[in-house]
Amino acid sequence: MPALIDVQNLCKVYNLGEVLVNAVHDVTLSVERGSFVAIMGPSGSGKSTFVNLLGCLDKPSSGRYWLDGIPVETMDRDQLAAIRNQKIGFIFQTFNLLSRTTALENVELPLLYTEHNVPDTEDRARQALLSVGLSGRELSLPNQLSGGQQQRVAIARALVNNPEILLADEPTGQLDSHTSNEIMAIFQELNRSRGITIILITHSEEIAGYADRIVRFLDGQIVSDQPVVHAVHVPEVAPAAEEVLL
Ligand SMILES: Nc1ncnc2c1ncn2[C@@H]1O[C@H](COP(=O)(O)OP(=O)(O)OP(=O)(O)O)[C@@H](O)[C@H]1O
Ligand SMILES: [Mg+2]
Repeated sequence: MPALIDVQNLCKVYNLGEVLVNAVHDVTLSVERGSFVAIMGPSGSGKSTFVNLLGCLDKPSSGRYWLDGIPVETMDRDQLAAIRNQKIGFIFQTFNLLSRTTALENVELPLLYTEHNVPDTEDRARQALLSVGLSGRELSLPNQLSGGQQQRVAIARALVNNPEILLADEPTGQLDSHTSNEIMAIFQELNRSRGITIILITHSEEIAGYADRIVRFLDGQIVSDQPVVHAVHVPEVAPAAEEVLL
């Protein structure tokens, strides 16, 4: 089976007239289904540009990208739009909720953009809100919710089409550390229980510690790619009676 995400020699060059910016330069990376990858690196190192390329929000200048075995450059506009709507959920630092629209309606939005009418739109949105611990707040407007709650609405909106992949660009960047940990617990649960592949940009080593793998960028290139070793919780076992007697 092919890797879910496979990019080879990917480049993104921005032409600013006088100068060319190599925002992503010759990046090769493969991400298996079910992985949880944290992307780190200093400001301006190309993290958002790279993740936008993975999300088909932007086109590479050169290089290749296979998504689920299919070369992305062969897809037309409609296929790309369907992928962005169905296969991938996006979460951003600033939540990007519609301000005059209730939590429930914000979550329903992606369902209104599918090709066919989804009959159980409201039920699915309610279910998505429930899955992020927000049932009871369906009718709240974004400004009636805390930052952490707004980010939960954004996660529910990203989940409502049952995507295989979640791409999150500094999702805890505006949250305090306690709320950040709550949001990361949701991501970890989505990854472990529902097998959703997660790629998440963060500046925090602590947040990156929730992932299984940390990929570090510098000047548009990957400079390190390492697994995260999670501390194994060993339950305390009472010593056997014989051991106590000895
Ligand atoms: N639309 C654009 N036009 C021109 N240059 C851009 C554009 N978007 C990004 N860049 C440049 O590309 C480089 C990489 O930017 P990018 O936003 O990917 O960095 P980043 O690692 O996400 O940084 P941060 O941690 O600050 O979010 C930077 O030099 C940036 O100025
Ligand atoms: Mg960025």
